[in-house]
Amino acid sequence: MAGISTYPFASQCLKYGADLVFSPMLHTDFVTNNIKEALKIADYGNCRYIIQLVGSEPHKFIKAINLLQKSTNSIGFDLNMGCPDKNTVKSGCGGALMKNFDLSIDIVKAMKSATSKPISVKTRVGYDNENDIFKLVEKLENENVSLLTIHPRKVIQMYRGKASWGIIKRVKKSTKIPICGSGDIKDYHQALKKHKETACDGLMIGRGALGKPWIFKEIKEEKKIEISQDEIKNIVTEISKEANRIWGNKGIIELRKQYAWFFKNTKNAKELREKLVKASTYDEVIEILAER
Ligand SMILES: Cc1cc2nc3c(=O)[nH]c(=O)nc-3n(C[C@H](O)[C@H](O)[C@H](O)COP(=O)(O)O)c2cc1C
Repeated sequence: MAGISTYPFASQCLKYGADLVFSPMLHTDFVTNNIKEALKIADYGNCRYIIQLVGSEPHKFIKAINLLQKSTNSIGFDLNMGCPDKNTVKSGCGGALMKNFDLSIDIVKAMKSATSKPISVKTRVGYDNENDIFKLVEKLENENVSLLTIHPRKVIQMYRGKASWGIIKRVKKSTKIPICGSGDIKDYHQALKKHKETACDGLMIGRGALGKPWIFKEIKEEKKIEISQDEIKNIVTEISKEANRIWGNKGIIELRKQYAWFFKNTKNAKELREKLVKASTYDEVIEILAER
């Protein structure tokens, strides 16, 4: 998730039980034109993570992977075929690839040619037809992709309506590719239910983890976890420290929206939120968190 699932937050998700995290999508042009800035988003040290790429030109995926694998330890590379953002789709990337399977497969082949690491795909069920996913799965099977993550909405739906988890169940039955389901999981009850109903191999949590990285621990332990205000402050301190290390004050400003999510329902929440969303430096954040 752009600006959210970078290393500072993702490392907390791993600490609280996530098995694997994905970088936000990185455009192949951004990687090749500005590798220094791209590495700030794509380098998670020795964490268990996958770098996600978005683009539309196979040769640029090769170039981007060559650059990234020289300087990172990601366990694999993922192709974004689902992003519904208007500009992304207009430029033939992300969700637009659901209208062009030949190009998608050319990109997967190019990615495979660039690395011995596993290649995975993240997509939606179709551009405007939810049965298109079955055609794509058949093609991806021939390419031996390692994982297919499906957010079961159509691209044109954006985030409207409900995720159609019934399709994930049908896809899982139809293929040998490991399937990860993504969409609308807000708590451990829903996670366990979806997992049981679909027999999918993995669950991806997006919005349900915002301000709540311990959702992964709740899912693993199959129970609600009570987190104290002090523990939340420790998590926020850690995230801020890492964002400051990577981006300086810009990293803290980018975190403002996350501060609001972390302190939604805690003691003195309104006061804390109001101060944190104005913080511009790491020192300011620490000072605010220290106030009783
Ligand atoms: C702000 C935001 C940014 C996202 N960025 C990405 C991204 O970079 N790559 C990706 O594959 N999906 C991205 N997604 C989609 C999520 O990974 C996920 O599939 C979708 O939000 C549904 O799951 P959820 O209900 O658990 O959030 C993003 C979603 C949101 C809300």
